[in-house]
Amino acid sequence: MKRKFPNTRLRRLRTNSPIRNLIRESTLSQNDLIQPIFLIEGNNKSQKIKSMPEITRMSIDLAVKEIRILKKLGLQGVALFPCIQNKFKDKTGSESFNPNGLMQRAIEKIKSTVKDIAIISDVALDPYTTHGQDGILGKNGEILNDETVEVLVKQALSHANCGVDIIAPSDMMDGRIKSIRKELEKNKFADTKILSYSAKYSSNYYGPFRDAVGSVKNLGKSNKDTYQMDYANSKDSMHEVEMDINEGADIVMVKPGMPYLDIVSKISEKYHVPIFIYQVSGEYAMIKAAAKNNWLDEKKVVIESLQCMKRSGANAIITYYAKDVLKWMK
Ligand code: PBG
Repeated sequence: MKRKFPNTRLRRLRTNSPIRNLIRESTLSQNDLIQPIFLIEGNNKSQKIKSMPEITRMSIDLAVKEIRILKKLGLQGVALFPCIQNKFKDKTGSESFNPNGLMQRAIEKIKSTVKDIAIISDVALDPYTTHGQDGILGKNGEILNDETVEVLVKQALSHANCGVDIIAPSDMMDGRIKSIRKELEKNKFADTKILSYSAKYSSNYYGPFRDAVGSVKNLGKSNKDTYQMDYANSKDSMHEVEMDINEGADIVMVKPGMPYLDIVSKISEKYHVPIFIYQVSGEYAMIKAAAKNNWLDEKKVVIESLQCMKRSGANAIITYYAKDVLKWMK
């Protein structure tokens, strides 16, 4: 079809807001948002996170209160991340599958006290290891894939035992989805969903999160380049997604968000699975910092960022701004 001026005037459909609204291609609603929650031990305890203004670490009782508020605002899901006391950390992350651990108690408590909210639990070892890596280390400091997967499977099962809705492995070991799915089936957790961090890049945008879960010092100068993906690549992510679907993932995730929307768009064209995006801590911190200086209009920039994520093909977004956005939508 030939589009010729003046028969076609593209501005015609932009003349006023009802027309613009009627022809909108994507929507952003309260059904699209997931709020991350950082957990700590104790009662009635909350801690500020320096690099993430207005986000706190919370004891389980406060997390329950907060989730009740979020639920009332229309939130659909929370993603739980634990900040583990140093005395419980070791080289292999064995605290991660303690049936009475912080995460396990939190899942049980939230499940039994708040109705109709999806609980997503992080499955990875970095909050639990003395070295801050997501895997068990070999003699030369290399990450041992299969040994790590064995621990991840135990961790995932311990979350399923507490009634978690969605297990979200964020570690990037090979074959972990297959092993976790097998263990879930074996233990009759047919309905427990797996949200695989399939395209998780070795990103510099995770800095504030590592501060929040207390792995930043432990990790020191080392990085995660041997398991998280190289940000120069996109074919790799298609492989990861395809394998994770075949291994039993229900939903796949792309992370970080904004610089990686080409990846989301490619996945959404090729595969028929729901896609979640993680707007990560560094993205949050950047917008916050600019907003605090009055360099950007926080509300408008946040809505635009999330809307663009929906346009790229995402079904839902994990964002530290979920609560604010729900309030803005009211
Ligand atoms: C680690 C994990 C990370 C995030 C979620 N799970 C950090 C990392 O891989 O080092 C980052 C989330 C964020 O930056 O908001 N298993």
